[in-house]
Amino acid sequence: MIEESEAMKYVIDNENIVKIYGLCEDESRRHMYLCMELLDKDLSETIHIFYKSTGKYLESLLLNTTCSMVNALEYCYSKSIVHRDIKPENILLNMKNVTVKLCDFGIASTKREFNFIAGTALYMPPEYHELRKTFDYRCDIWSLGMTLLQLTSEKLLKEDVNSYGDPFIASQVFIEKLLKDGGIWLKKLIDAAKCSIEAKDFIRECLTIDIDKRPRFEQLKDLTYYQENVKGYYYKDLIEMLEKISNLPKKEENPQEQTETERKKNS
Ligand SMILES: Nc1ncnc2c1ncn2[C@@H]1O[C@H](COP(=O)(O)OP(=O)(O)OP(=O)(O)O)[C@@H](O)[C@H]1O
Ligand SMILES: [Mg+2]
Repeated sequence: MIEESEAMKYVIDNENIVKIYGLCEDESRRHMYLCMELLDKDLSETIHIFYKSTGKYLESLLLNTTCSMVNALEYCYSKSIVHRDIKPENILLNMKNVTVKLCDFGIASTKREFNFIAGTALYMPPEYHELRKTFDYRCDIWSLGMTLLQLTSEKLLKEDVNSYGDPFIASQVFIEKLLKDGGIWLKKLIDAAKCSIEAKDFIRECLTIDIDKRPRFEQLKDLTYYQENVKGYYYKDLIEMLEKISNLPKKEENPQEQTETERKKNS
């Protein structure tokens, strides 16, 4: 918590980063609380609901996330903050104004270069498994690519990584599989993603294996996919979809969703 609030001190002024109001503790002084703005859902929950209720993937959610996260991460970079845990669960959505914001700076680095590896297995970059003394913000660009890839798929790449216990080992196994035979599996995953060609190109660039060839923010912003948004993309289908899912009856209000146990109890 202290580390998180420390990192967040530097990233207070960006429309795509969750706003923090302050840090407080309870009367016993044993618990600390971080007070922040409340958003509606994280992206992992959002795409789950989308698929469940409509069976559809939304290009505009991907585009909105792409542009918002490039903006947030470039800002973090300007403040020497590396987030290190970019993933759908740490990206929040305001359903009313379709704003996408980054949260959870719990393992962020307040130095541009770091040597302590942290993160979530599925999103860790390949360079974590090379003999390197330090790492930098380019880990966030790789994780953004993995995050976008996740958003294009109903079956999220869970890949059983959690069964390894240690996230670093799990990531090593996952990256080895991803990059085997010249990265065939990675290429197949991107090719199979249900999104536009421009979106695939953007994801492919983020997932550049060689860290020295991975694009920087300026290069990412030059890509067609990002430029589309700069032209003033209107998130019409996203707004309509959010209106639709926010009107869905809650689980307990829908009799058809009654569970087996409940049915037995009631009969
Ligand atoms: N400001 C917020 N508004 C709405 N939901 C939030 C907010 N902050 C966090 N959440 C929800 O809570 C979840 C956990 O929060 P966060 O990512 O900050 O903590 P964490 O360190 O990852 O915790 P844990 O690993 O125990 O889940 C997020 O994935 C998101 O679903
Ligand atoms: Mg989190």
